[in-house]
Amino acid sequence: MYKIKTLNKISSAGLSLLPKENYSISDNEEAPDGIILRSFDMHTMELPESLLAVGRAGAGVNNIPIDKCSEKGILVFNTPGANANAVKELVIAGLILSSRNVIGGIKWAESLEGQADVAKTVEKGKSNYTGPEIKGKTLGVLGLGAIGVLVANAAIGLGMNVIGCYNTVLHDYAKSNLHKDVEVTNDRSFVYENSDYISIHLPSKSDTKQMFNAAVFEKMKKGVRIINMARSNLVNDADIIKALESGQVSCYVTDFPTEEVLGANNVIPIPHLGASTPESEENCAYMAALQVKNYLECGNIKNSVNFPDLEVEYKGGVRVCVVAKATAEDGITAAIAKSGLRIKDKASASSKDICYWIIDVEGDAPDAKAFENTDGVISVRVIR
Ligand code: MLT
Repeated sequence: MYKIKTLNKISSAGLSLLPKENYSISDNEEAPDGIILRSFDMHTMELPESLLAVGRAGAGVNNIPIDKCSEKGILVFNTPGANANAVKELVIAGLILSSRNVIGGIKWAESLEGQADVAKTVEKGKSNYTGPEIKGKTLGVLGLGAIGVLVANAAIGLGMNVIGCYNTVLHDYAKSNLHKDVEVTNDRSFVYENSDYISIHLPSKSDTKQMFNAAVFEKMKKGVRIINMARSNLVNDADIIKALESGQVSCYVTDFPTEEVLGANNVIPIPHLGASTPESEENCAYMAALQVKNYLECGNIKNSVNFPDLEVEYKGGVRVCVVAKATAEDGITAAIAKSGLRIKDKASASSKDICYWIIDVEGDAPDAKAFENTDGVISVRVIR
């Protein structure tokens, strides 16, 4: 019986992939084999010794202590693309809300409750709430992953000019899915100088934290509208407040409001609703559950953010899975040769820090323990 601890509310439709006969799932599992979560901050918790895999039902993994997990041989999966459509739709809403003063207008209309002749008052006062159309304007999309590509294409469909900016490499997904009319660049300054709207789709990492600061706002077109459905710490709060006060930025739509920005004018705060649709919650939960299940039951890895992907069809029998530091690669190869295991099939993959082996053996695998004494081995697991 595998134990799965949930740290957030996870769609039951997704979790139904883990059958009750083989899985015990709850938010208070002791000694879990797997954790499935959304935005719960794992940095503050002790990692259970029993933990083998963490499934993040979502894209961002800044709430998970990746380095600590890697050191302990714990796999971390995310679900790239599973909520991309939900986020794209909210970005489109954000573009329109940043432009047309719908929120101000709604608040005003609500304030008229109880007054006589509301229809007449509305017609008289509506000119206070005009705002420009997005058609014909330029949108800069920073980051061309699953979400950025969908946003860029949708904006083309709405008649915008779109500049898509990739980070270091333009991935195959973007190459094959971006609308042909999206102008592609990796020059951020070009995006800043030419965009009326900027939508941020970058991960929160050490090199992206606070990257939207005073110096960057200065490079942007005066009156730019910024949509941040990525993470709050990409934007320097004090600097964006100053940019909003000076009119350099005319509106900031954020799905990650902080105390500081809530007090500023022309901020549209959204309570992290980017992925909050039944469809995307289900997609993410399903994908996270599938990946964790596939690892626990078969040792297969897909969409891990800290381990190399490796999938080998599991037809039953005994499978030895070895996780080691990348520097231990030669030692493991020698240990496999010396192990006396009757090997049917073996496969390995390595990334910058980690290497991973799947070894299918004949008979039992009593000698798998021998790997544990090899330098650099982080964990050995036998699946039968
Ligand atoms: C994500 O990173 O994909 C979102 O933050 C998901 C969520 O809202 O849980």
